[in-house]
Amino acid sequence: MQVVWVMLICLAGGHLASAQLCKTYGTIPGIPGSPGLPGSNGRNGENGPKGEQGPPGLSEHEGDIGQKGEPGEPGHPGKIGPRGFPGPMGLPGIPGLPGLRGDSGDYKATAKSAFSALRSISSYPRANYPVRFERALTNEKSHYESRYGRFVCRVPGIYYFTYHVTSRGNLCLSIIKGRSSSTGEKVVTFCDYVQSSYQITTGGVVLQLAMNESVWLQPTEKNSLVGIEGSDSIFSGFLIFPDA
Ligand SMILES: *[C@@H]1O[C@H](CO)[C@@H](O)[C@H](O)[C@H]1NC(C)=O
Repeated sequence: MQVVWVMLICLAGGHLASAQLCKTYGTIPGIPGSPGLPGSNGRNGENGPKGEQGPPGLSEHEGDIGQKGEPGEPGHPGKIGPRGFPGPMGLPGIPGLPGLRGDSGDYKATAKSAFSALRSISSYPRANYPVRFERALTNEKSHYESRYGRFVCRVPGIYYFTYHVTSRGNLCLSIIKGRSSSTGEKVVTFCDYVQSSYQITTGGVVLQLAMNESVWLQPTEKNSLVGIEGSDSIFSGFLIFPDA
């Protein structure tokens, strides 16, 4: 290095002091050498300090709101929820139209039955046989058979039967219900015990009758029933309600 320095000094002072300095060595300055190869890069410097915060940025289209878009497609229906409590009962509906006119009833045609019949026979009736009330005063539809003294039901329903008879002694009369004049069951029996004086004995009953059932009056051995002018005996009956 010292040699290089000396040579550089000679070059620099060539014009001024060449006589003294460069004479010493007595040589002609050489051609400068070619520059050396560049050195390798130095190490990276330390990071610099953080800069100040910049101004807030601007959005590209700030304040530029676009037009409203079309509504989207409806979503899929959701799952069925749990069943709710029943609601309160609603108000009653308005009444419907009247129905068709019904068929005409046949009350006038068939549901009629009533009779009253007198006994005008002075002799006593036979014990345990139907009493003949042979003279019908009223006999609607002829359901009372005066020949046998019995009423035969032709309109099933509920009937009322009653009698008012004159007696001149002991009399027990039964109201009998049956299918024929000879057999039947006693429904009720009324008795009166008197001696040698006229009196009226009476009884009655309400009965449910089926088709063709018969009703009549029948005395026991106490049979002092008479029918004479002014002291009549009468057997009556009539339909109260026909069966539906
Ligand atoms: C009622 O008697 C009549 C004859 O008297 C007969 O024709 C009819 O079948 C009888 N009806 C019933 C239900 O017994």
